[in-house]
Amino acid sequence: MHNHAKRETIIQLVQFMKESSHTVILTGAGMSTESGVPDFRSKSGWWKNIDPRSVATVEALEENYDLFHEFYSMRIHALAKCLPHKGHHLLANWQKQGLIHTIATQNVDNFHQMAGASNVQTLHGSIRSFRCHHCGAPSKENTFLLKEPCTNCGGNIRPEVVLFGEPLPEKTWQNVLQHIHKADLVIVIGTSLEVYPVNQLPEMTNGHTVLLNLEEVEGKYEFDLMIKGKAKDVLERVDELLKIV
Ligand code: OAD
Repeated sequence: MHNHAKRETIIQLVQFMKESSHTVILTGAGMSTESGVPDFRSKSGWWKNIDPRSVATVEALEENYDLFHEFYSMRIHALAKCLPHKGHHLLANWQKQGLIHTIATQNVDNFHQMAGASNVQTLHGSIRSFRCHHCGAPSKENTFLLKEPCTNCGGNIRPEVVLFGEPLPEKTWQNVLQHIHKADLVIVIGTSLEVYPVNQLPEMTNGHTVLLNLEEVEGKYEFDLMIKGKAKDVLERVDELLKIV
């Protein structure tokens, strides 16, 4: 069947999980596509024929606020109709059971937290909180959507996401590094691994590495195990096996 991950690879992942005493999950946009949120690099349906990556920049925020605002408003409205899927819930359950330990994500949708995961490391921030780009004062989604200026300084409001041209939140990055260093197993889910520095993380562990992705990723990444398939589908199959193996 097309896109149906091989059973042996899923059995191997379950084995790795059972043997590991510290497992880190690293997710990207492919984790959320089955919730109805489009990813960034798949070919279809780019907004207004604009590559979303060219709008998620400091340059767009500072020099083309109208476009920046329109893009993020569209994403916020689209997200309002979406919810975490079974895969997010399974990860949160496994964390509660102690089967996995840290969830680090490039996603800004908060789905892992909404599904009940704790201590989620949001490497690219969150689209659900807001601040003034000028003075940093906290703001609100509605203020942003209404395109109102900061009540403190009159500056432009922005979501608390990491834009191209900005550093990752230092504490979060250091935290994830620590977990990666002590991990016995790192499971990477739904990311093209095209964005630095997160794409460096899988190679920094001494533990086993697994990539679960719909398609092969470009570049010289070496994983102990590659599972080609859909995140939700594969995680559901892992859950079934965890119960019987
Ligand atoms: P990408 O869109 O680059 O990659 C998503 C990957 O997930 C692709 O390789 C898809 O094949 C795969 N995929 C899609 N649906 C899937 C599914 N159901 N199951 C498994 N895999 C699936 O997204 P990211 O790698 O997350 O940053 O992108 C990284 C960063 O670039 C984002 O955080 C964002 C973006 O620009 C910023 O905005 C700063």
